[in-house]
Amino acid sequence: MGKLLSPARGEMWVENGGSRDIQSPVRDVMRVFHPSKYPHHVPTGLGKTWGLSFSTHISPLTGLALLGTILLFSACQPQSELQHLPYQPEYLQAAHPPSFSPMRIPPDNPLTKAGVALGRKLFFDPILSKDSSIACSSCHQPELAFTDGKALSTGVDGRIGKRSAMSLLNVGFYAKGLFWDGRVATLEEQSLHPVRDTLEMRNAWPVLLQKLQTHAKYPALFRQAFGINNHKEIDSTLVGKALAQYERTLISADTKFDRVMREEAQFTAQEKRGWTIFFDASPAVPTSECSHCHVDPLFSTLNFENNGLVAALSLDDYPDKGRGIVTGNRNDNGLFRVPTLRNLKYTAPYMHDGRFKTLEAVLDHYASGGHPGTNVSPNVRKLKLSERDRADLIAFLNTLNDEN
Ligand code: HEC
Ligand code: HEC
Repeated sequence: MGKLLSPARGEMWVENGGSRDIQSPVRDVMRVFHPSKYPHHVPTGLGKTWGLSFSTHISPLTGLALLGTILLFSACQPQSELQHLPYQPEYLQAAHPPSFSPMRIPPDNPLTKAGVALGRKLFFDPILSKDSSIACSSCHQPELAFTDGKALSTGVDGRIGKRSAMSLLNVGFYAKGLFWDGRVATLEEQSLHPVRDTLEMRNAWPVLLQKLQTHAKYPALFRQAFGINNHKEIDSTLVGKALAQYERTLISADTKFDRVMREEAQFTAQEKRGWTIFFDASPAVPTSECSHCHVDPLFSTLNFENNGLVAALSLDDYPDKGRGIVTGNRNDNGLFRVPTLRNLKYTAPYMHDGRFKTLEAVLDHYASGGHPGTNVSPNVRKLKLSERDRADLIAFLNTLNDEN
């Protein structure tokens, strides 16, 4: 926090009012994926404290004395090239859809308007890849719920990746580890991976940082977002922080399902029956076991499970060991993080290896009980689902699509 806020103290006084007009990406994103109900632009407590300490608690005289000291101090300092630009962080509160647990945000990376704007620019900028051919958004496309529509992603030079790109909607709420195997804990750290991944952006950090530091626009944007004084302060940590801030604004919580839960809409009879099957909510319908793993509101426990997807003779034979790569525990081989079922309309093909193109194929898999294996969940077992049951389940799953 110290690093982030302390430069602001002086500069708020010296350069008050010179703020640049940054177009707010938050607003765009919110319009697409956020219900207007949730406040996003409300300053956090932090912002309010700032307002207080500057506007009421400091008398004009103290203010003048402070200003003098600061000017004197800065006169003795070697002039740094970005200091003339304003740094006035405008704090944003992460959206908090009522049914979701609050998003955990690291205290040293609070959301700011300029931070989110910078993260968004970086996210859509191919400058991050080795030959400037690929941006984060190439594999995480907003119109496909931030996936790429492919079974396996394609990186720089057309190299085929090992897994299917994941939707980034609601990723700020995924508190038990990121990626299909949960190998990374925070969004800040996650962002460092694709840049140097040889099957993704295939870049080297020193090369990218050099480009950003000497770029016509980025140094000023990093100044506005993080209060840096010199272009040389642009580092991978700040790139990661900005990307993480932007990703925390990608929220999808206004589906028909959410509106029904808020009693603002009603399921059709078919959707209602599908809901009943999905949640095993009545003995009058067949069981599906889905909600052991796909629990609302995220439609995932975020735990790692083997849903019997892959045929393997033994625990050592899974072609992608998934969670086992991370823990080194043989019993975790073949386990993958339970994915959300929100926005399935946009995220096909399905599963970590994109093997199923349709929801019908997914249901055929679950109804068959999947491939046997010592660590396959007991909740994956043969199901008696008629054509009608399957159609109803799919009708329910379609209420989880965010059509905004
Ligand atoms: C070449 C395609 C590609 C590019 C480019 C790419 N990603 Fe990904 N992304 C993926 C794939 C594939 C996965 C799943 C990888 C895995 O589980 O091993 C993933 C996973 C993620 C996740 C984890 C989501 C979750 O639910 O756990 C985040 C966050 C993410 N990417 C953000 C980014 C950011 C930020 C960038 C740009 C710096 C980026 N990605 C660039 C393909 C890509
Ligand atoms: C034991 C936990 C478990 C149960 C029960 C379960 N799933 Fe899954 N589901 C998973 C896991 C784990 C994955 C990812 C597997 C992989 O990619 O290797 C998954 C993936 C999916 C996907 C693909 C999502 C995507 O974005 O790729 C869909 C759709 C799905 N499940 C629907 C269902 C339905 C419908 C039911 C009930 C018939 C169900 N699941 C029951 C754990 C479970």
